[in-house]
Amino acid sequence: MACGIIGVTARKSQGSPSRIAEIVKKGLEKLEYRGYDSVGVAAIYDNRILVRKGKGKISEVNRRIKLDRVLGWTVIGHTRWATHGAPSDINAHPHTDCSGKIAVVHNGIIQNYVELKKELTAKGHRFQSETDTEVLAHLIEEYLKKGNEVFHAFKKALKRIKGSYAFGVIAVDEPDKIFFARKDSPLVIGIGRDMNFIASDIPAFLEYTRDVIIVYDEELGYITPDSVYLEDENGIPVNVKMRIRKIDWTPDMAKKEGYPHFMIKEIHEQPRALRDTLRGLDESVGEASKLILEARKVYFVAAGTSYHACLVGDYLLNILAGIPSFSIISSEYKKYRRSIGEGDVVIAVSQSGETIDTLMAIRVFKKNGAKIISVSNVVDSAIPRESNYTIYTRAGPEIGVAATKTFTTQILVLSWLSLSVAEKGGKLTENEARKMRDSLRKAPLLVSDILARYEGVTKKLGEELMNSRSAFYLGRGIGLPIAMEGALKLKEIAYIHAEAYPAGESKHGPIALVEPGFPVVFLIFEDEWKRHMLGNIEEMKARGAYAIGIIPEESEFIEERLDKAIVVPKLKPIVGTIVYSVPLQLIAYYAAVARGYDPDKPRNLAKTVTVE
Ligand code: AGP
Repeated sequence: MACGIIGVTARKSQGSPSRIAEIVKKGLEKLEYRGYDSVGVAAIYDNRILVRKGKGKISEVNRRIKLDRVLGWTVIGHTRWATHGAPSDINAHPHTDCSGKIAVVHNGIIQNYVELKKELTAKGHRFQSETDTEVLAHLIEEYLKKGNEVFHAFKKALKRIKGSYAFGVIAVDEPDKIFFARKDSPLVIGIGRDMNFIASDIPAFLEYTRDVIIVYDEELGYITPDSVYLEDENGIPVNVKMRIRKIDWTPDMAKKEGYPHFMIKEIHEQPRALRDTLRGLDESVGEASKLILEARKVYFVAAGTSYHACLVGDYLLNILAGIPSFSIISSEYKKYRRSIGEGDVVIAVSQSGETIDTLMAIRVFKKNGAKIISVSNVVDSAIPRESNYTIYTRAGPEIGVAATKTFTTQILVLSWLSLSVAEKGGKLTENEARKMRDSLRKAPLLVSDILARYEGVTKKLGEELMNSRSAFYLGRGIGLPIAMEGALKLKEIAYIHAEAYPAGESKHGPIALVEPGFPVVFLIFEDEWKRHMLGNIEEMKARGAYAIGIIPEESEFIEERLDKAIVVPKLKPIVGTIVYSVPLQLIAYYAAVARGYDPDKPRNLAKTVTVE
């Protein structure tokens, strides 16, 4: 899971001293999607550090202790997702040293904090919290006592730390600076006017600047209101001007724009996201398809929804290009640490580009000699940076924790890539490949049509499902990963237990659970499995299941056996995956809303999982 960090330092000309805390609080709200249980800010004012923090949602804590009224032009803020120490006011970040002159925010885990805490306690340091993070504040204090300047004390302290981190640190001795460092946890810098930022993610400061520097692994430095100092892993200063990127996300993209939730806004953005992703795909898959054709073996690796996208790519590579590829859940990569290497290609899929399990997997495979192709939505994020080649989806920022537009755009990229491999490898004629590409080009229009026609139907279905305790999602062939994704969506935001199975497998056990009224969602494509799926409907109906189906037009013989049908145009399965995903997202969304849950911030979940 992932905490959120923001830090802002501004010139005094930027207005009243409480304005910066307001910016920090707004930034923290933009990071809420990462999941958190407590929140806090620290500011430097009048040669002192002021800290306000507490357990609970930002709005509640702000009501209680007015986070946005803290005075100061240098302010750090944090949303905490508890790892070491229960969620509490005391364990919330920022943490300070004994003198109260240093404050620290952290995303990640300090693995050797027990030893460090013992050592520091023996030296007389008093700890307030149970967190791993607090050791950094005391370590810096210790090195300051030895006469170091803050930056050097910070660097020396970092050398003692084992684990993962993105740190933001302020110190009264240097009131215009925010010190930062990154290792295996995301961190970005925003370059504003007389005001600079650090944050865990770009939306935190998108309202103020689109000029961004992505901090790479093991880099560190500090920002002032009008400068950035950055050192690479070897301590060599980086030419920061060369690293600034103007990102093409707009502040509106990170706002709800009248929608009640980001998730529904992002579902509706899919036609645009698909259209943007289609642009330039021909070029960007070229190099990757060559690598795949030369590979000894091809693997996909990812977590969660991105893993489901891998299963689609994997299916198409097998079916269209005749390449026997395999998909790996990234947290299970260790099984393959000896078998994947020289000559292999690994396709890593991650919308955030920061999922730690996927990052760890590609590091091991790359070290063994494998070539890494990544598919990501975030330019210059960790996974693309460590890959040999990257293809980007252009979905724009996805704030809702549940992946929607990043999933359908991932499928689009992987389908395009598989087509290119199949064509270049002589398994599809130019004409066959062109026809399939033409059908993929229709995805934005088809998705618009589904959204216009089925929002009402899926809302009713979601409301019907709200009282169910469990549901099955069944599919075959390319429909299976889409069923898996549908079930994941229902589970993660509506908290209804849902499982997906290959429809053929359902009678080997799962069917025992079916009783009258048990919802089963069938994904039926215009493919070789259509008739078999009818058999599965009959089996489930015979046990009283409530049968819901997404089916192609002119399938009346199936429609009449279903309790509810969503009829889509007859589509080539390659584009059907994208289209069928949309009603499943809507059903989960409306089930969550009907049950009174906030689909943007599901309990216990974070958007980017940066802890292994
Ligand atoms: C899906 O709705 C979740 N957000 C989650 O399963 C996610 O897909 C997974 O954590 C992988 O994230 P990534 O694409 O950023 O690597």
